[in-house]
Amino acid sequence: MFPKSLRSALILGAALMAPALVQAESFDKVKIAAGKMLFDGSCHRCHSVDADRKSYGPLLDGVVGRKAGSFPGYPYSDALKSAGFVWTPGALRAWMEANDQLVPGTKMRHVGIEDPTVQDFIVTYLTSLKAK
Ligand code: HEC
Repeated sequence: MFPKSLRSALILGAALMAPALVQAESFDKVKIAAGKMLFDGSCHRCHSVDADRKSYGPLLDGVVGRKAGSFPGYPYSDALKSAGFVWTPGALRAWMEANDQLVPGTKMRHVGIEDPTVQDFIVTYLTSLKAK
């Protein structure tokens, strides 16, 4: 058994931590919600996130961890098809900032999202989407 003072210290610690954890969780929710708004504004007109809907650009649900240019049946540019990397949060940031520099010859129009906070929100939103 812990000495009494240590036990109270642990209980006090847990009590202090709990709101911080709740806050961290809801901060993620806020980031996802903000990311969805930003995505809807900058990306949604070309990208669906719903496997049941066709879109001009490749589907983006489950894109984090997926090999670039590999969504089945999508007519990618040769450049993206042969890019040979996996989409990580870092690669997605670089893509949003300058997709035509990350993969020269891509057919996605330059979107130029340079604000790291905006990038972060959109990546958090995309990470929250699971492939169907
Ligand atoms: C004007 C239409 C358009 C807009 C706007 C657009 N995209 Fe794209 N996107 C495309 C097209 C077309 C491709 C396929 C590119 C290729 O094959 O070279 C693509 C490809 C991608 C890919 C690669 C997916 C894969 O399967 O490898 C990602 C990731 C992506 N876009 C993210 C975004 C994000 C995030 C935004 C918003 C910040 C965005 N796009 C805005 C048209 C668009």
